[in-house]
Amino acid sequence: QTNILRDSHGRDHTYLRISLVERCNLRCFYCMPAEGVQLTPKSHIMTYEEIYDIAKTFVKHGVSKIRLTGGEPLIRKDIPFVLEKLASLPVELSITSNAVIIHKFIDTLKKYNVNNINVSLDTLISKKFKEITLRDEFDIVYKNIFLLVKEGFNVKINAVLMKGVNDDEIIDFIHLTKDLPVSIRFIEFMPFDGNKWDLSKMVSYKEVMTYVNVSFSETDIERLQDAPNDTAKNYRIKGYRGSFAIISSVTNPFCDSCNRLRLTANGQLKNCLFSSTESDLLTTLRAGKSIEPIIQKAVQAKLKVRGGMDTLEKLQEPKLHNNNRSMITIGG
Ligand code: GTP
Ligand code: 5AD
Ligand code: SF4
Repeated sequence: QTNILRDSHGRDHTYLRISLVERCNLRCFYCMPAEGVQLTPKSHIMTYEEIYDIAKTFVKHGVSKIRLTGGEPLIRKDIPFVLEKLASLPVELSITSNAVIIHKFIDTLKKYNVNNINVSLDTLISKKFKEITLRDEFDIVYKNIFLLVKEGFNVKINAVLMKGVNDDEIIDFIHLTKDLPVSIRFIEFMPFDGNKWDLSKMVSYKEVMTYVNVSFSETDIERLQDAPNDTAKNYRIKGYRGSFAIISSVTNPFCDSCNRLRLTANGQLKNCLFSSTESDLLTTLRAGKSIEPIIQKAVQAKLKVRGGMDTLEKLQEPKLHNNNRSMITIGG
């Protein structure tokens, strides 16, 4: 039997990211366009049963890890049902959240073994948080990170770095890992439709390491072993309980080891974060037909690097990166 999740470059796709909602309780400018996005009518958003049916097919073909994203996945009203259904599959369930309301879901997340929680937080300064997200929720997010750690979850913090916005906080974030056992991941700012990306605003992997080398001595900076298919290059300051990492999608893409597929809230399969083509699984599922041929075709069509934007020059072409969705409806 052929493996429908192996692409033409020999990559096996074992990790499915499912976006549960197109809406969010924050308004981060690098994710959501100021003018908002055209929301899919509710009738064309996957129900939790449909999410389960589609996920089941992927699991049958080898997916072993599912990460729930959004928008903000926890604002979906039926999130306990989504979790209950997916938890019945033999997969590792994870979630990426802004943590604004996550304190209300501690028991639910534990009940369904959602152990890996990635929290988006770009600044440690309350006033700046409000400037980035247009909402005054820093205190609760910060508190919730400590709550998640105390409750035993495996927590990673995602910070999208932008010049003149939060590049002055890199070392403060790393200091946080002295006593707090979290991984803080610095993310290179990536271009998506409507996010006003500009290469000059991005802080590169190399630049992050320059900051680190100025503040810590060489012998204290340990390069850690990365997990298989990791998006991040991981480091630790000697003696610190937590670690830090860089997600270098722009300057050092990790597409060679890509194992990820994406399902949008309206049931479209994206074979790459940057792909501009989508395959409509939901319509086929609703018609009562098999989604397997469509999945296979989409996986086969996957390009080697960043949906075809294999060079920095191509990534900078607005025509190419604006062909994609806005980040808020992809989920990262
Ligand atoms: P782990 O499961 O903990 O490894 O998380 P993750 O890095 O797969 O997912 P998360 O949702 O925390 O995403 C962190 C950052 O990595 C976001 O900026 C994502 O857009 C980016 N990212 C996640 N998966 C991919 C990918 O397949 N390709 C690229 N280029 N970036 C990705
Ligand atoms: N570039 C890089 N990362 C982004 N994220 C959202 N928008 C962007 C972007 N333009 C990150 C968020 C979230 C993760 C899923 O994606 O920080 O944690
Ligand atoms: Fe995979 Fe596309 Fe991300 Fe590269 S850019 S790692 S191919 S999803």
